[in-house]
Amino acid sequence: MKRSIVRGAAALAAALACTCALAAGNTIKIGVIAEMSGTFADFGQQITNGAKAYMKANGDTVAGKKIELIVKDVTGPAPDVAKRLAQELVVKDEVDFIVGFGLTPNALAVASVATEAKKPTVIMNAATSIITTKSPYMVRTSMTLPQVTEPMAQWAYKSGVRKVYTVVADYGPGHDAEKAFRGAFTKAGGEIVGDVRVPLKNPEFGPFVQRVKDAKPQAVFVFMPAGELALGFMKAYSERGLDKAGIRLLTTGDLTEDGILEALGDHALGVISTHHYSMAHDSPENKAFLAAYAQISPQRPNFMAVGAWDGMAAIYEVVRKLNGNIDGDKAMQAFKGMKIKSPRGPLEIDADTRDVVQTVYVREVKKVGGKLYNVEFDQFPHVKDPGK
Ligand code: PHB
Repeated sequence: MKRSIVRGAAALAAALACTCALAAGNTIKIGVIAEMSGTFADFGQQITNGAKAYMKANGDTVAGKKIELIVKDVTGPAPDVAKRLAQELVVKDEVDFIVGFGLTPNALAVASVATEAKKPTVIMNAATSIITTKSPYMVRTSMTLPQVTEPMAQWAYKSGVRKVYTVVADYGPGHDAEKAFRGAFTKAGGEIVGDVRVPLKNPEFGPFVQRVKDAKPQAVFVFMPAGELALGFMKAYSERGLDKAGIRLLTTGDLTEDGILEALGDHALGVISTHHYSMAHDSPENKAFLAAYAQISPQRPNFMAVGAWDGMAAIYEVVRKLNGNIDGDKAMQAFKGMKIKSPRGPLEIDADTRDVVQTVYVREVKKVGGKLYNVEFDQFPHVKDPGK
């Protein structure tokens, strides 16, 4: 009698487990929230293409489950839209992961949804330091501005630069970059002779750049988000003759990202930047990435595409570790401390902060085979986000 009860309970447990597996289905759904239209449409293209390239190169089945991307257009810096899309992805689409986020305000807006739904959320670009502290369910595979900026300040001082003017976009990552540059540069012994913040929407660069010229610094340090703003700044920099006045341009790699270099043209030659990824990085992993990306898009990939590629690599690893049964808490455990051989170089997800630890390269824009590239010539290995 007793034995049959035990047997009955075991059968029930097995039946329940079976229903669970069925309910979970044979698909791992990944909701992508990205800027697919408007001024920042290139961010969404880079992110979705990077993710698709990873799937092309590595197959779309992991641990017996099919990987499916569900892409939602957040349209630009639109936190309310980002939050609504995240809620829809959780409730209607029943996704297993939320990913994407070119822009900081969109990533920040989703933190509370990630926490309430216990939904692992992979930040593939947005780079304001604070983002990953806003939810224990967030992990980042891109960079943080302080992480790529401090090496620039240290390199500048080491190279003899003593007086710098800073110009940043007036929102999260710009504020982070301004603070990190000032902190590291003055600590080394340098002086900040002026600083200015440029609005994110419809910026007029001319007057800001003129102010820099009039202050006669040795160099200007700039953070602009990749794309239109970077183009606008570079145009004003050469139109107002800062290069001819001998004011060197130091920047994070956002300004000289691979996708826009050809549009910047020869004005960009000689610009020094620090960043985590260059198309010209010489490694088998980068060759594989470039080959896969070329099958998805004729455009050049940039660091956002690599952030997405690595985000997918991290998710594939989590799905393998959990044997296809995704649980929010277990997934976050699996992300922590993970090491990835990225197209950019070695990458680790810090177990405490869920942020990236990586090499930051110093690069110069040069012509190679008639085309412009960020050519790496120095590096800072194993850099953590200094703010944490
Ligand atoms: C951001 O909004 O966090 C951001 C956007 C573009 C960049 C870097 C950071 O190039």
